[in-house]
Amino acid sequence: MQKWVVANWKMNGSKNLLNEYKKSFKNHKKLIVCLPSIYLGEPSGLILSAQNIHQQLKGAYTGEISASMLVEFGVKYCLVGHSERRQHFHETNSDVRAKAETCLEANITPIICIGETLEQYEANQTTEVLERQLAECLPSRSGFWIAYEPVWAIGTGKTPTTDEISEVHLMLREKLPNTILLYGGSVNGDNAATIFAIPNVDGALVGGASLDVAAVAVILKHAR
Ligand code: 13P
Repeated sequence: MQKWVVANWKMNGSKNLLNEYKKSFKNHKKLIVCLPSIYLGEPSGLILSAQNIHQQLKGAYTGEISASMLVEFGVKYCLVGHSERRQHFHETNSDVRAKAETCLEANITPIICIGETLEQYEANQTTEVLERQLAECLPSRSGFWIAYEPVWAIGTGKTPTTDEISEVHLMLREKLPNTILLYGGSVNGDNAATIFAIPNVDGALVGGASLDVAAVAVILKHAR
């Protein structure tokens, strides 16, 4: 089955890049683009995701964006608990759960990000860390997706071995049989085919490589 490709621009990109995406990927059925929020209102013909959301539906939260606003603009997905949000904006597992609940209430699919740090990986704590994140981040109802993103693999050019990804995704599949499971962390045109071939990997969450339309086209080709 065709795999999902979720492109996370982070705080990168431009109107020009959005135009290139529109030209190349308009109406693509398996590409989701996580745009900086200021671009989410542009008619694009792309399946859109936000990169973050506030857990409240409205109120005095200057600078924040609510689920109902995303819905007004046809946004279908939202990343929740990306490690950069946890690291730089001090989001906790309980914030992640609240945001995921809010998304589901608003009919937005939360893509909940989990993953171990390098220190935890080196101490062989990956399974235990992920189990705790699942226990504390998952909302009470189904309908969410999970992205396994080892923190040490993000933007570093390093990835776990295929066996390591396979082991984590098997654990996730056993716990969450009907959930879409993405792998993220240094996915690019060169390693996408190998990663998509790993059992229980339903797609990839792509950061840096998503800023290059040619690289996205290669990743999408391998996703077929
Ligand atoms: P890179 O693909 O740049 O490693 O980023 C992964 C990521 O954080 C996607 O959300």
